[in-house]
Amino acid sequence: MINTSTLLYNASNLPISSIRRSNKLNIKAVKMELTLTRPDDWHLHLRDGDLLAAVAPYSARDFGRAIVMPNLRPPITTTADAIAYRESIMKVLPADSDFNPLMTLYLTDTTSPNEIKLAKESGVVYAVKLYPAGATTNSQDGVTDLFGKCLPALQEMAEQSMPLLVHGEVTDPDVDIFDREKVFIETVLRPLIQKLPRLKVVMEHITTADAVKFIETCKEGTVAATVTPQHLVLNRNSLFQGGLQPHYYCLPVLKREIHRQTILSAVTSGSKQYFLGTDSAPHERQRKESSCGCAGIFNAPVALSLYTKIFEEAGALEKLEAFTSFNGPDFYGLPRNTSKIKLTKRPWKVPERILFPSGEIVPMFAGQMLDWKPSF
Ligand code: DOR
Ligand code: ZN
Repeated sequence: MINTSTLLYNASNLPISSIRRSNKLNIKAVKMELTLTRPDDWHLHLRDGDLLAAVAPYSARDFGRAIVMPNLRPPITTTADAIAYRESIMKVLPADSDFNPLMTLYLTDTTSPNEIKLAKESGVVYAVKLYPAGATTNSQDGVTDLFGKCLPALQEMAEQSMPLLVHGEVTDPDVDIFDREKVFIETVLRPLIQKLPRLKVVMEHITTADAVKFIETCKEGTVAATVTPQHLVLNRNSLFQGGLQPHYYCLPVLKREIHRQTILSAVTSGSKQYFLGTDSAPHERQRKESSCGCAGIFNAPVALSLYTKIFEEAGALEKLEAFTSFNGPDFYGLPRNTSKIKLTKRPWKVPERILFPSGEIVPMFAGQMLDWKPSF
């Protein structure tokens, strides 16, 4: 696990020894730089109102496009809602931004096949999100009868090549919270894929070795997974390190170290079935630091630095670009971005807090030093 002390800038992480051997120049003049095709974020919560205005510029800075989650209150259940939400996102972006929000619909028991057709025709909606009712933040309007009431909509999605994005956890209170992903795979996801083999499915924010094993049995190009930075750098101990750490609480919850290591190996293996999805999910500070704290980690300001660090430590920097910038658009059937982004290996401090009119947001690794900085 990358604990916070190894995240501190550490010159020994630089492959300086090799630079020294091959380069007689003063090593201080050697700067590590990476140029990547501009990445996309295939799973992002942007919220609405002044929280949207506060957080959207962080994603727009580092990413070309993002799949925007529909779990607002009320949720985005129609194409008309998605178009209106997209307009409100565009209004808060910096004037020179070319960030492109790709919208999603929130699947309910009453989503009609016609709504799916409208979504596809709109050119604005790129996927439909399945929240099992009660699984996570603002999922109360989610699905209660996937194989019954939702079937016509799912069949139309398979027909239209409209991906289903899955929050892969069962909600049965008798299932241990650390097993909810594993049980979901066996009781919902595998049967779903057997029933609708042409349906494109993204298992979002995978957290377990069980999910990796499952994805590997599925057809490339039909089933894929997104992976967050937190599930690659933290394990469940982080939630309790030195006291309860609400800013590391997200859903699916962090898992054991063995799961983190398995996901890390899968992602850095070069498989095309995994791509970047931050699940950046901001909540106002008091809603996290509360007697009943919300799930969600605001990682947009640090996500790209962390993914880079992870691939670097795994000795797999040459596989980073496919994960950040190729596998996602290839899966969605969209063109890869043509512009580039540069990352420089130099220490930078994550802001302690981000102020906005209704309060403040604490970003992931607030106040800590990270060592890959996107530059513009
Ligand atoms: O931690 C999470 N936060 N997981 C989710 O699935 C939803 C998200 C949110 O919207 O806050
Ligand atoms: Zn999410």
